Amino acid sequence: MAAIAADITLQRQDELLYLLHQDCGSCHGMTLKGGLGPPLLPQVLQDKPVELLSATILFGRPSTPMPPWSFMLNADEATWLAKHLKGQAHD
Ligand code: HEC
Repeated sequence: MAAIAADITLQRQDELLYLLHQDCGSCHGMTLKGGLGPPLLPQVLQDKPVELLSATILFGRPSTPMPPWSFMLNADEATWLAKHLKGQAHD
């Protein structure tokens, strides 16, 4: 599991970070401190498993405004974003 995210190219990582601050930022805040959605800062997410966060990103949370992103992200990319949000190293 840990090594998977290393396969994401630097160009794709830039795209994911752009998505995070533009699209995710519209709800979670440009600096991810929260808004309509909760804050996505490492100190808030530290006790939540990467698998839970990546599943939330891929599939959304039914009956909340959190939408699914599986139409534009694959599982590796969702895992990469989840680790990024937790402030974990990507390799
Ligand atoms: C339309 C608003 C909206 C957008 C856009 C959005 N989210 Fe969310 N997100 C939410 C809400 C609301 C929740 C809280 C859901 C709940 O009540 O459990 C949430 C929850 C989450 C969680 C779980 C946090 C936790 O503490 O368990 C993660 C991770 C997350 N979002 C990541 C993302 C990412 C990454 C993107 C962009 C790819 C994104 N979100 C885009 C509204 C949004």
